[in-house]
Amino acid sequence: MHKLKIAVLFGGCSPEYNVSLQSAYSIITHLNNDKYEPVLIGITPTGEWFRFTGDPVKIKDNTWCNSQDCVRAIISPSREVQGVLEFDNGKIREIKLDAAMPVLHGKNGEDGTIQGLLELAGIPIVGCRTLSSALCMDKDRAHKLAYAAGVRVPRSFIIDDKKNWETVCEQAENIGYPLFVKPVRAGSSIGITKVLNRNDLATAVKLAFAYDDRIIIEENINGFEVSCAILGNDELIVGELGEIELKNGFFDYTEKYTPKSWTFHVPARIPAPKAEEIKNTAVKIYKALDCSGFARVDMFLTPMGEIVFNEVNTIPGFTIHSQYPRLLQAAGMTFEQVIDTAVGLAVGA
Ligand SMILES: Nc1ncnc2c1ncn2[C@@H]1O[C@H](COP(=O)(O)OP(=O)(O)O)[C@@H](O)[C@H]1O
Ligand SMILES: [Mg+2]
Repeated sequence: MHKLKIAVLFGGCSPEYNVSLQSAYSIITHLNNDKYEPVLIGITPTGEWFRFTGDPVKIKDNTWCNSQDCVRAIISPSREVQGVLEFDNGKIREIKLDAAMPVLHGKNGEDGTIQGLLELAGIPIVGCRTLSSALCMDKDRAHKLAYAAGVRVPRSFIIDDKKNWETVCEQAENIGYPLFVKPVRAGSSIGITKVLNRNDLATAVKLAFAYDDRIIIEENINGFEVSCAILGNDELIVGELGEIELKNGFFDYTEKYTPKSWTFHVPARIPAPKAEEIKNTAVKIYKALDCSGFARVDMFLTPMGEIVFNEVNTIPGFTIHSQYPRLLQAAGMTFEQVIDTAVGLAVGA
């Protein structure tokens, strides 16, 4: 059988480089080898591109980038190639692709940049395309579109470098403490602070500015976070809901990758009618933000039963322990089937 060539892009010039390596390892090792031939493209934290031909374990261990296993390679923007150009000892080799799956979290990967290159090159994307990736990465613009679709979002305001500090403090008072300070475009809780009082606002703003030139300040939403896995283009598969029970504080970077500090309940401990309403809200958000392929929609459920949008992750964590695959597994799919369906949506299988 002719195997389809699927590029898996991993690593990335992003603070979430390490998370990507873990997700990519799981995806590569669960890809159906009878149907697909993976073409592994690694991007270093400084943004260099290589084709990797070694053992995928080296991706997981972050030892993949070495001269035995790597040759320089790029995705060509030219549709004539529709694939990868490999530079081997002065020779250029073309590898035609049937699809590409960016497994890159955060900046320069989940934000529409790579998706734009793939669309330009005429290579089908496994996952969200350029517009939805860029919109979902921008917490402010994603909120505005979800709100326009009739979904409640946290009250918030934006700070950029032109904003006067007194106005910022006033607006923060209006929102009320505690509040959340976030870079508009980041992930894995990087640069995010829960600010308990005005004395800590300046430090939090400074930290967030290290990751983006626009900062969003949001009201604190009481309750807990629920996540919904969606898979599909027009006809959507919606997984079980997940509920994150935190042992302390909020879901920061250390907590996210320290399994002991939080419990993930699948399905969420929510009565069936409310769970249905949350799933419908997630679908509404997915469509409002033009998502396709797959995405994880995160919301809050307040003690009053209100559903408040938080964010969409267009390339959610994808290890076998990650929320996204677990939510679909709880709805009856295996990890392999999740990947197979996602790839199938891109190649039209
Ligand atoms: N407005 C909010 N109210 C309450 N908790 C929040 C709010 N915003 C974020 N959080 C907490 O902070 C975590 C990280 O914020 P999030 O916006 O999801 O950023 P990231 O893209 O880094 O995952 C969330 O999982 C949640 O625990
Ligand atoms: Mg989040």
